[in-house]
Amino acid sequence: MHARTKTGGYKASEIKWEYINEIRKKTTLPLIANGEIWNFADGQRCIETTGVDSLMVCRGAFNVPNLGNVVKHNHTAMPWHEVVELLLVYSTYEIKGDKGLYYPNRVKQWFSYLRQQYPEAAELFREIRTFNKAAPIVEHIQHYRDKVLATLPQ
Ligand SMILES: Cc1cc2nc3c(=O)[nH]c(=O)nc-3n(C[C@H](O)[C@H](O)[C@H](O)COP(=O)(O)O)c2cc1C
Repeated sequence: MHARTKTGGYKASEIKWEYINEIRKKTTLPLIANGEIWNFADGQRCIETTGVDSLMVCRGAFNVPNLGNVVKHNHTAMPWHEVVELLLVYSTYEIKGDKGLYYPNRVKQWFSYLRQQYPEAAELFREIRTFNKAAPIVEHIQHYRDKVLATLPQ
């Protein structure tokens, strides 16, 4: 349950977790609470407010790819070099067949989320921003990955 109103839109301040609690009291259906969960503390507050013990994340998982484990187990956010590897794994799926046409916009959209969590993502985004074909973007991220890996302790 994503407790929002049409007029509230996606404004964080308009999330109505308390409505989920009201609905929970009136149904025996299993409920999953969703909306504005960006970290462990949000998850805890959502559980307290809604009385629901199952959560779902959406946009936050674009910011922090391991958000499920962050929210559930208080893990730390995935380190940047792992995110870069993940970008490349994602790219291999997303450039297959006709989907490759959409890849530049999709990957740039993901960067707009990632840069909210990782300052390095803003920098990498600036480097790929002007490319509008899949191949140069992937190639650039591969070179970038090699540079990042070279800076890690052995
Ligand atoms: C890019 C995007 C696409 C979405 N597509 C759907 C959809 O097709 N069907 C749906 O029921 N909700 C969709 N949603 C809503 C999400 O499932 C989720 O309820 C909402 O984003 C609130 O969770 P969040 O605050 O963790 O992002 C979408 C959200 C985003 C950001």
